[in-house]
Amino acid sequence: MSKKPLILGIETSCDETAASLITENEGGRPIVLSNIISSQVDVHKEFGGVVPELAARSHMEKIDWIVQKAISESGHKIEEIDAVASTAGPGLIVCLSVGLSFGKAFAASLNIPFIAINHLEGHALSPKLNSDLNYPYLLLLISGGHSQFLNVKGLGRYKRLGTTIDDALGEAFDKTAKLLGIEFPGGPQIEILAKKGDPSKYDLPKPIFYKGGCNLSFAGLKTAVLKIAKNIKNDQEKFDLAASFQKTIEEILYKKTKVAFKEFEKQKKIKEKVFVVAGGVAANKNIRSMLKNLCVTEGYQSIFPPIEICGDNAAMIAMVGLEKFKLKQFSKLDHAAIPRWPLDKKAVFLKGAGIKL
Ligand code: KG4
Ligand code: ZN
Repeated sequence: MSKKPLILGIETSCDETAASLITENEGGRPIVLSNIISSQVDVHKEFGGVVPELAARSHMEKIDWIVQKAISESGHKIEEIDAVASTAGPGLIVCLSVGLSFGKAFAASLNIPFIAINHLEGHALSPKLNSDLNYPYLLLLISGGHSQFLNVKGLGRYKRLGTTIDDALGEAFDKTAKLLGIEFPGGPQIEILAKKGDPSKYDLPKPIFYKGGCNLSFAGLKTAVLKIAKNIKNDQEKFDLAASFQKTIEEILYKKTKVAFKEFEKQKKIKEKVFVVAGGVAANKNIRSMLKNLCVTEGYQSIFPPIEICGDNAAMIAMVGLEKFKLKQFSKLDHAAIPRWPLDKKAVFLKGAGIKL
């Protein structure tokens, strides 16, 4: 039995300091040995959002003991690690630089390979930590900074089928929460408050609902929430607005996912109809069950990462590192932090303009 690779993953792209050790079994399936995540919610709460400099300082303070904890919980020794994989982008440059520099120095001191990872690729492949998943598959990536439909053709091979032309979905959840006076990070709270409200109370707009293919837009929805939120008089109206927002998002995703299915089926070399939803917003249970039901009616297999893997973590970074390690796709120690790093490099940057609506 040959020694299986042991990979250390490090994630510091935003406000989570995370480290993980993973290896694989005889069948090549990843095994998570440790997955340590330290959130900075308390650091940013009073500012109502992530403050980059404070986030970077907190990463610097914590990174060493988080990595040490990940190693000790894995039951392995530092000398047994075969490679270090750090998130190199996209994200906040001051935050990325901490995990990237730490990972490079760690790898250099042990004389082992260093592997720079695209954070979005971590989310995109995260279901592989728990499920067998063959390429190609259709991915809906919904996080704080991105909302995209992608044809995932293989490691490093992505074709974007649709994207948001303005705000990301997680951003829309967070901004709506802020307008409702919910403490940061409010996104996940919307789902909880929505349960107490009437989803038909407010009729919110669904921008580019009937046009723009499977592209998405949430900015107009946020503006509508802002106008209503100003006149809210009591908690019940707040719950009703949260419920109406959650319902509107579900309607948008239902419709756009159906369009994305058609787009995906037009792609070359599609063998199976598999739909994966990943990223922080994939933790929303209502969105999960609505998309699961849609998949049943449309004949798709649906795959969601477990809820604890939807948000930022280092296990997904280590897992992409493991795949790259097996292909000897190592990075140089002068690899830069890349604040903007799309998965589909050929896709044009759509900021409202340039998109066929
Ligand atoms: O993937 P992620 O942890 O970080 C980024 O890479 O952006 O995603 C964070 C986003 C935040 O906007 C957060 O509000 C949202 O995911 N989120 C949720 C839920 N849990 C996290 N949004 C809606 N419902 C949830 N349950
Ligand atoms: Zn993320």
